[in-house]
Amino acid sequence: MEASERDELLATLGWWVEAGVDTLVEAAPRDWRTPPPRAATREIPASVSEPELVLRAGAASPPATVSATTIAELRHAVEIFEGCPLRTGNVSTVFADGNPEADLMLIGEAPGAQEDRMGLPFVGPAGQLLDRMLAAIGRNRTSAYITNVTFWRPPGNRTPTPAEVETTMPFVRRHIALVRPKVIIALGACAARALTGDVTGIMRLRGQWRPLAVEGTDCPLMPTLHPAFLLRQPDAKRLAWADLLAVKAKLDAD
Ligand code: URA
Repeated sequence: MEASERDELLATLGWWVEAGVDTLVEAAPRDWRTPPPRAATREIPASVSEPELVLRAGAASPPATVSATTIAELRHAVEIFEGCPLRTGNVSTVFADGNPEADLMLIGEAPGAQEDRMGLPFVGPAGQLLDRMLAAIGRNRTSAYITNVTFWRPPGNRTPTPAEVETTMPFVRRHIALVRPKVIIALGACAARALTGDVTGIMRLRGQWRPLAVEGTDCPLMPTLHPAFLLRQPDAKRLAWADLLAVKAKLDAD
């Protein structure tokens, strides 16, 4: 392709992005509200390795096991995982950012458009607010670890369905077991529900410590309001602030 053609294409794409077009669609129409088909249950021979196993798993099925023993192995297992329908049409697998050695782990919902473009969680407007929230308790991305319950951007930034989240939760649980943080913050209703199994509204869930047992590791979890919600409802920031102070107090204790 000629340089001038490439510049013209890039300018057109830039214009579309500014006009709000940020989702690539397929040639054939698809009803995004229809839940993805469940993969048929199959007999899997014991000789099949984990990467092969997750590749064979098909649409909307969690991996049978996640045996990664390091963060790098886990990232790789997520990157080659084909069982979550959200992968389709995205640029990036958004795995995590920050320090996996940190004692504070934050878990959000799903990447948005900017996260998909950059391959990092919480880098858009909600992420900028999250950085300010962390700074308010003396933390940043070198003293906290940030991920989501799903690793691919849902079409149009919709909330991931429970079935979609179910496919990625084995990775999230392994992620927690590998990081072994002192405290987890669940950001928003989707993450709080996925992690606690409690479908109570986030306004009731937030601010209450929940014991989380993951693969033999106990870790207190604080559900709080999602920064994207706080951007829309700035009055609720005082609630999130109270939750952050409780987190800081627990991190500072002993
Ligand atoms: N919202 C989320 O829940 N996660 C991100 O990574 C970005 C926005």
